[in-house]
Parts: sequence; structure tokens; C-alpha cells
Amino acid sequence: MSTKRRVIIVAIDGPAGSGKTTLAEGLAERLGFVRVDTGAIYRAVALLALRNGIDLEDEESLTRLLDGLDLSFGMEQGVNKVLLAGDDVTDEIRDPKVSDAASKVSALPKVRAGLLGLQRKLALDCGAPGAILEGRDIGTVVFPEADFKFFVTASEDERARRRYEELKAKGLSVTRDSVAREQASRDERDISRTVSPLERADDAVVIDSTNKPPSEVVDELQNIVTSAGISARPR
Ligand code: DC
Repeated sequence: MSTKRRVIIVAIDGPAGSGKTTLAEGLAERLGFVRVDTGAIYRAVALLALRNGIDLEDEESLTRLLDGLDLSFGMEQGVNKVLLAGDDVTDEIRDPKVSDAASKVSALPKVRAGLLGLQRKLALDCGAPGAILEGRDIGTVVFPEADFKFFVTASEDERARRRYEELKAKGLSVTRDSVAREQASRDERDISRTVSPLERADDAVVIDSTNKPPSEVVDELQNIVTSAGISARPR
């Protein structure tokens, strides 16, 4: 008989800029769970494709790229880090060019299938009592049996504003309009792709973060989890 404890799975899905990351980070800290940023996985694959000059529609070559994918996540002075073959790519994968490429490679069925195992493993082997996965299809495809499912939304304007502030703070030269346009086209691609589109699971709790401070929304999520008998164990 296995003595391995079952990891509690929390799915947080939603479009870009809806506030998933802030909520997943806040909830992970309060509960002592690990956060798994599945978007960062697609972004790392996209970066690798761009670096290798692979056509973003060349499904076979992109799938082959996954075989050698050496991706790891770490924490440095309280900041989540994404490492590609040991190289810190945390900031590089947030570049608008990589965002656009990630949205393209993530539309390919074989790429999605090839990354399912990694996403599940990162959660199930996280070494914490629970894992919070943020993405687009966590509650529908990656963990349809997740213990908790949240679908986070925010108005289009608010999502574009957040993304603009984020990129500006990083010193990137962007305009409000270009961010809004880029986001709208990414949303459209994420929603309309044939495999695992961005979609609310029927049993997900919908959270609108438009006019609420993040801490209030984290309270809301935490209440739902702890009311189900899960105790918080901050690390
Ligand atoms: O959450 P994000 O913006 O970092 O995600 C980057 C891209 O990856 C996004 O355009 C859609 C894709 N993605 C996905 O298709 N499925 C996921 N579970 C997570 C992200």
C-alpha cells in the first residue's frame, strides 16, 4: 500500500490579466501550497522555439523540442524563477514577442498533449500538501477532478490596464493600445483553438476580480478552501 499522501489540487483558470497569478501566489502563501504556473511552461517552449528559429506552426519540430525540454522552477529571495537549461528566463518569457509565440504554440494539439505529463507531475510531486495550478485548461483537461476549481475574470479594459502597468514597470516600451490589441488577439486565439480552449469548467466557481483588491479575492478563495475542511499550513 502506498503511503504517499494525496496532494490537494486547486485549479485557477482565466484569461490573460484576469489576476490568476496574484491570486495563486497569495493563496499558495496562505495555505502553504505550491504554485504551478502552467503559462510559464508554454512560454518557455515558445522561447526555445524562437531561439532555435522553429516555425511556430511546425507541430512536428515543436513536439520534438519537448523531448529535450529542461525546465525547472525555483524561488530566489521570495521571487519565483523559471529556469531553462539552468538559465534564468523569468523576465525574458514575459516579453510580448514570447507571449504571442506562447499563444501560437499552445494552440497545437501535440504540444499540449506533450506537456500534460509535466504539468501533472509538477503538481503531484510538489512535496507540499497541495498545489495551485494556474492556466487555461486546468479544471477542464489537466485536472478535471481537481478538489477546487476557480475561473477568474476581469473586464477587458482592466485586464489590458494591468498588463500595460506590468510591462511598463519592467521598462518595456509599449503603448496602452498595443497592449490591448495584443491581448485581444491572444484571447481570441486561446478561446477559439480547437484543443483545450480557454473555457470555464461547469463546476468552477467564477470570481470577478475587476473592482476588488487582490487580498479580498484571496480571502474569498481561502474561505472556500478552508470551509471544505482544508487547514492552512503556511510555510
Ligand atoms: O497565463 P499566460 O499568459 O502566461 O499564458 C501564456 C500562453 O500560454 C497563453 O496565451 C495561453 C497558453 N496557456 C495555455 O494554453 N494553457 C495553459 N494551461 C496555460 C497557458
